[in-house]
Amino acid sequence: MSKVQAVRAEAPIRFFREQPFTASETLKTGERNQLMGRVREALRAQDAVLVAHYYTAPDLQILADETGGIVSDSLEMARFGYEHPGRTVVVAGVRFMGETAKILSPHKRVLMPDLEATCSLDVGCPPEEFAAFCDQHPERTVVVYANTSAAVKARADWVVTSSIAVDVIRHLHARGESILWAPDKHLGAYVQQETGADMVLWDGACIVHEEFKSIELDRVRAEYPEAKILAHPESPAGVVAQADVVGSTSQLLKAVQTLDAGTFVVATDAGIFHKMREAAPGKTLLEAPTAGKGATCTSCAHCPWMAMNGLRSLVHTLETGANEIHVDSLVAKQALVSLGRMLEFGKSRSRVVEGTGDA
Ligand code: 13P
Ligand code: SF4
Repeated sequence: MSKVQAVRAEAPIRFFREQPFTASETLKTGERNQLMGRVREALRAQDAVLVAHYYTAPDLQILADETGGIVSDSLEMARFGYEHPGRTVVVAGVRFMGETAKILSPHKRVLMPDLEATCSLDVGCPPEEFAAFCDQHPERTVVVYANTSAAVKARADWVVTSSIAVDVIRHLHARGESILWAPDKHLGAYVQQETGADMVLWDGACIVHEEFKSIELDRVRAEYPEAKILAHPESPAGVVAQADVVGSTSQLLKAVQTLDAGTFVVATDAGIFHKMREAAPGKTLLEAPTAGKGATCTSCAHCPWMAMNGLRSLVHTLETGANEIHVDSLVAKQALVSLGRMLEFGKSRSRVVEGTGDA
């Protein structure tokens, strides 16, 4: 009997579960195989590349890998889509990822399985209110998380993703700049704590990561004292404080591969378990708890908007050209400045890492 089963047998309430993660779209094997074949064919016929986020359904990740696309974090998705020679980029993820691809490559066609797939951080930071917040702090450098609309990026000096947020703010802090940060207050607070920078924070949050419960995580740690805790920095401070590794989706995946531990408790969207299991097949991966004692559910960390990316919708967009992303050209031109800084900073950081051998 595995340790998780033992916990279930002894306690009526489960605080967490061992993966697997299942996609919200349920398909019979025949239909699944047929749809996957149609995606492969359409990608080839249309000189298109599939760029998928780790939180999307395993079948989409498999297709992206198989067909020369990529499964990655949001920074690498942006870089890959920009550098790939294909004429069409199909972004399986959420809307800001499609907009970013379009802004970086205006001459390419950018498609998404579902244009309604948004993000609570984006929704919670309307451009007009954000502009008013910026106007209140004209002396501050405006740094926004990639999980924002094109219009918010257009107002920013810098865009960052979770994989480079700490490095960028440290760089700006060293130059003596004070920061206006939006929209994720948890990531902002973490970056502030790591860098000591002077930051004012927008009050936004990710509805998925905000659900992780630090008290329940404490119980899991007591049950699995040997486990390493991995947390995405969109999680609340009490969860981040307990983590052995805090990082972007790619950084958490790397930690599962490289850390000398057999068990990991993972505080991020369950979609990442597909790649984690592939990368570290012998290791035990547990979801960090989102539910407290007495709750009827255990952990439900899956982004409802990422879940809108399915095989059926992917085939539909590829075969009909539906769901093309368009960004107003003036907004795109302005947003390209802050996004360009992000890509350039990411590139120079990789050069430093390659030069030093640091991970
Ligand atoms: P990453 O940049 O770490 O992939 O995060 C994107 C995201 O939306 C996390 O919720
Ligand atoms: Fe946005 Fe959270 Fe979904 Fe990531 S997981 S796309 S931050 S709502």
